Amino acid sequence: MKFFIDTANLEQIKEAQDLGILDGVTTNPSLMAKEGISGKEAILNHYKTICEIADGDISAEVLSTTYDEMIKEGEELAAIHPNIVVKIPMIKDGVKALKYFSNKGIKTNCTLIFSAGQALLAAKAGANYVSPFLGRLDDISVDGMNLIEEIRIIFDNYMFDTEILAASIRSPMHIINCAKIGADVVTSPLASILNLLKHPLTDSGLAQFVADAKKMD
Ligand code: E4P
Repeated sequence: MKFFIDTANLEQIKEAQDLGILDGVTTNPSLMAKEGISGKEAILNHYKTICEIADGDISAEVLSTTYDEMIKEGEELAAIHPNIVVKIPMIKDGVKALKYFSNKGIKTNCTLIFSAGQALLAAKAGANYVSPFLGRLDDISVDGMNLIEEIRIIFDNYMFDTEILAASIRSPMHIINCAKIGADVVTSPLASILNLLKHPLTDSGLAQFVADAKKMD
């Protein structure tokens, strides 16, 4: 399973990259705004910097919602760096844009996926990734993990190449359950990735080993 970090924060991207487990980065307009990035030039520059810090696929989301604008914007984003993946919302014009970019060999990530039908349409249109939003479904008392399971069955039935990129991750248990179900990728905040490290028995066991090591000095 690939690990992407879900942030536009450069320090956190560096930290995950230095950990040696990072396979890519996802961003969205809210995450960019959180970092105070605004204006076309600043946005393009920020994506360029992310591509220089992190290896792997870097999702850059279009801000527009009409076909013509998404094509123009997506082509500009794709021109920044070969690792850019154009992130397109699951709307009618978005499906058409996915097909356009697929025909041109530009990688895409279809975002805001909340149903198996949406994932199926995005895969049919040639999306490289679909992003089902786990946490936002859980937030409204719908089992997000069930959606990942449904998409896995459908993609396996028809051997779609589209990868399931589990998004809107809220906890390390989301990551573990995605791995059990067979999501291809999880994109997570740094905190949930780092929480996978933690176990009290590891801490107490190490404290004991360090104490005993001192006796051997
Ligand atoms: C990533 O591609 C998504 O935009 C992101 O995971 C959404 O997460 P949120 O529901 O925590 O905003």
